[in-house]
Amino acid sequence: MTENPYETDALLQQYLVFHYAGLAEQFPFSFGASDALGFPVRCVSEGLDFESLKPEARALDLGCAVGGSSFELARHCSAVIGIDYSEAFIGAARQLQSTGKVSATRLDEGSLQTRLELEIDAGIDRARLSFETGDAQDLRADLGQFDVVLACNLICRLPEPMRLLSRLPELVRPGGQLFITTPFTWLEAYTPQANWLGEGAVDSFAGLRASLEPMFKLERAWDMPFLIREHARKFQYSIAQASRWRRADSGK
Ligand SMILES: C[S@@+](CC[C@H](N)C(=O)[O-])C[C@H]1O[C@@H](n2cnc3c(N)ncnc32)[C@H](O)[C@@H]1O
Repeated sequence: MTENPYETDALLQQYLVFHYAGLAEQFPFSFGASDALGFPVRCVSEGLDFESLKPEARALDLGCAVGGSSFELARHCSAVIGIDYSEAFIGAARQLQSTGKVSATRLDEGSLQTRLELEIDAGIDRARLSFETGDAQDLRADLGQFDVVLACNLICRLPEPMRLLSRLPELVRPGGQLFITTPFTWLEAYTPQANWLGEGAVDSFAGLRASLEPMFKLERAWDMPFLIREHARKFQYSIAQASRWRRADSGK
């Protein structure tokens, strides 16, 4: 791939709107699709088991983009690291972390745009967060262990998903939780077909499961719709496969 789309201004603005704009600012219709709004927040509110989460929990958000789920994690965890490969996305996440706000341009139609002033909820302690650029397939060795690891809509954007999946047992503390979503949108532009999970994506979820078990135990698997606005009358409606996994207590 020549240019990384996640470094473009068009996707930066699209993701700022996706992660932080009000729900009616994203989808101002009373019919359809409302079940798919608020995905970055729902990855935390629907994805995690809060009963087993201690207040001093450490969390890692892999492929965090502009950080929407990372900020939501900080409501429940005392330290959150967000990592993404895109310098543009991490730059915006850092601005939100340091100032609590960022401007974004929402595309309406043609060249018509609306400028939005986006803010982090004042109830979130931004000092709990840090953001860094990094490759999820080659994470720095000294990250340590986490009570929560999120990898939302990331694995089908990696050239070699197995390089991340095989590192996860080390990253999630025994008893900790791993939350993964993916629409399994396999594209050669991101992932060579030989590396698609589940025997070339014959059954991607079976492949994901085979790569995580027995170090992780599957607690729950379900469907999670999400909506990304392209312009006022065009939206991407996707259904991610969501799954929550518990790190086994022993090495096994
Ligand atoms: C489809 S977006 C999902 C972002 C976010 N988790 C969400 O659910 O909205 C994929 C993200 O993965 C990031 N990404 C792609 N390859 C990566 C890599 N090798 N390491 C870390 N992040 C990567 C992209 O920059 C982008 O932010």
